[in-house]
Amino acid sequence: MSSDSTGGMVLPYGTVYLVGAGPGDPELLTLKAHRLLSRCDALVHDALVPKALLDLVPDHCERHFVGKRRGHHSVPQPSTNAVLVELATRHRTVVRLKGGDPFLFGRGGEEAAHLAARGIPVEVVPGVTSGIAAPAYAGIPVTHRRAGSSVTFVTGHEEVDKRRPGVDWQGLARSSDGLVIYMGLHNLERICMELMAGGLDPATPAAVIQQGTVLGQRTLVAPLGVLAERVAEEGLASPSIVVVGRVVAERVEACAPAPADAEMPIPFDVGDGIARIP
Ligand SMILES: C[S@@+](CC[C@H](N)C(=O)[O-])C[C@H]1O[C@@H](n2cnc3c(N)ncnc32)[C@H](O)[C@@H]1O
Repeated sequence: MSSDSTGGMVLPYGTVYLVGAGPGDPELLTLKAHRLLSRCDALVHDALVPKALLDLVPDHCERHFVGKRRGHHSVPQPSTNAVLVELATRHRTVVRLKGGDPFLFGRGGEEAAHLAARGIPVEVVPGVTSGIAAPAYAGIPVTHRRAGSSVTFVTGHEEVDKRRPGVDWQGLARSSDGLVIYMGLHNLERICMELMAGGLDPATPAAVIQQGTVLGQRTLVAPLGVLAERVAEEGLASPSIVVVGRVVAERVEACAPAPADAEMPIPFDVGDGIARIP
């Protein structure tokens, strides 16, 4: 039975909300996400959420960290699913907080399906994705009439995650005017080679935005042909968004907001369980 502090009807399960935390700047949180965080009984989150949001939850809230601990892999997805199911049996409002938008490279769809299949009420709360916000905080619009009519959100992580079909980078080079690449740094050299093999000019404008919207934000703009080399020289690291296409040349630096004075990813200590956060 889920707990019911209001004394109202007690349901067999609480509701799990898959909530988008936004890209880092806490002010980019939606009002709906803010309301749920302020009254949740349990919180499950990983490292790519701003620390300030964790302070919004009530004192009684049970917190679970399921992210990557330094030098370790993330908690496996089946374990996270099990934590969500278990919490829904004990709590009325469970928030599963995810960086950016839960349904954009965030495994939110997998968690929603797992919960729904067990009859557990689940609801998604969309968030501002880093693929739009990080470029925006560098003054780069992800679409522009002068730069074409299409943009593709794509993961550069596909080689690591064998459960995903591979990305046809050469095909994308031909079919999409702009590319917004998540998790692209690890394979950046190969991705750039493939895009050029697919017909993109080495002079195509490109950018990498590290730590978008928060402290430590850095932007590198370079032609596609030397992008990987420049990223290595400058030592840019994850989390970063890569933008490729003429939209980068439409950058208006004057419109870029100052990054928020916020910490993200959250720092953490190595623990031996999933129920601790700093
Ligand atoms: C597992 S994906 C999650 C994406 C998330 N669901 C979203 O909508 O933003 C993690 C990747 O998102 C990107 N990312 C997340 N936050 C970022 C930020 N503040 N600045 C730049 N890239 C970010 C990086 O490419 C990172 O490796």
